[in-house]
Amino acid sequence: MERELLELKQEAEEALAQVTGADQLEAFRVKFLGRKGGLLTGILRQLGQAAPEDRPRLGQLANDIKLGLESSVDEKKAQLVASVGTGGGGTDYSLPGRYLSFGKSHPVTQVMEEICSIFVGLGFAVAEGPDVETDHYNFEALNIPKHHPARDMHDTFYVSESLLLRTHTSPMQARIMERQDPPLRYVVPGKVYRCDSDMTHTPMFHQVEGLLVDRQVSFADLKGVLTSFTHKIFERELPLRFRPSYFPFTEPSAEVDVACVICGGSGCRVCKRTGWLEILGSGLIDPEVLKMVGYDPDIYSGFAFGLGVERIAMLKYGIDDIRLYYENDLRFLSQF
Ligand code: FA5
Repeated sequence: MERELLELKQEAEEALAQVTGADQLEAFRVKFLGRKGGLLTGILRQLGQAAPEDRPRLGQLANDIKLGLESSVDEKKAQLVASVGTGGGGTDYSLPGRYLSFGKSHPVTQVMEEICSIFVGLGFAVAEGPDVETDHYNFEALNIPKHHPARDMHDTFYVSESLLLRTHTSPMQARIMERQDPPLRYVVPGKVYRCDSDMTHTPMFHQVEGLLVDRQVSFADLKGVLTSFTHKIFERELPLRFRPSYFPFTEPSAEVDVACVICGGSGCRVCKRTGWLEILGSGLIDPEVLKMVGYDPDIYSGFAFGLGVERIAMLKYGIDDIRLYYENDLRFLSQF
């Protein structure tokens, strides 16, 4: 058995000298040192048959050979790793790197940022406000007292009797005007919440509020700013219409529709066969609202508007179902 062990040692050393790659090294390890069917293990199993007085010496020899081979395998491994790029079977740093994909902003965020930057270019500053709002700022300060029928226009998520998830970005009108005297120009981007869901409505959506107060601000200023904004955001002069409407905090009020880009204005399910898609509500700030924040309506006037960001993103990219934005399907989102 001693001879067998010494022959195996020599055979293993010769074989290891021939190893040039990681796969070969593993095959070597399995062949000589493998627990099941390894050649050294095979000899060790026969140790019990040796004469009792020889067993300690043979056992010691077998163990020395095993430890010696194991450390030779480790050494070889280190040599292979060091022989990088030379076909030595280690890590080859000349191989192309693995592709790391980078995240990017959600399309709605991208459009919201673009909207804000257009208004910044028109001289507006950007402000933000709380998503959880008081009943006072969401309704009362906007001329919508309790039990006013206009509250029905907003299907509200209440947090408590006096706290709610803001149903629009308009509460920031009062918050801004309370803390600052005119002249002022602001846009307020943010999330808003309504109990509402279909192809053009989601329970959480984004608005950008616009607010401008100064002396002698007229409806013509509002029209000019919004027309200029619309042409910029859609990168073409899409047909636009100002449709008389009603908001308790503006007088007169108008909703602005843009020709439906999905059907080109001929009528489809997205525009409910009208050829138009509403993108915003607007108007001249009601004198009552100005009085509530301490402005004199005989001196100051202003306009405000609230844009639906998802609607604008739908028109910009020809998306026919608003819910696609919130299904988190990367095949859809990665296109933007
Ligand atoms: C308002 O929210 C008013 N605060 C806008 C306003 C501001 C008027 C300042 C006057 C002065 P309205 O409920 O119409 O208005 O919503 C404004 C825009 O938000 C709509 O034109 C539409 O583009 C979008 N919008 C409304 N509800 C949803 C919804 N559930 N999902 C997606 N977009 C919506």
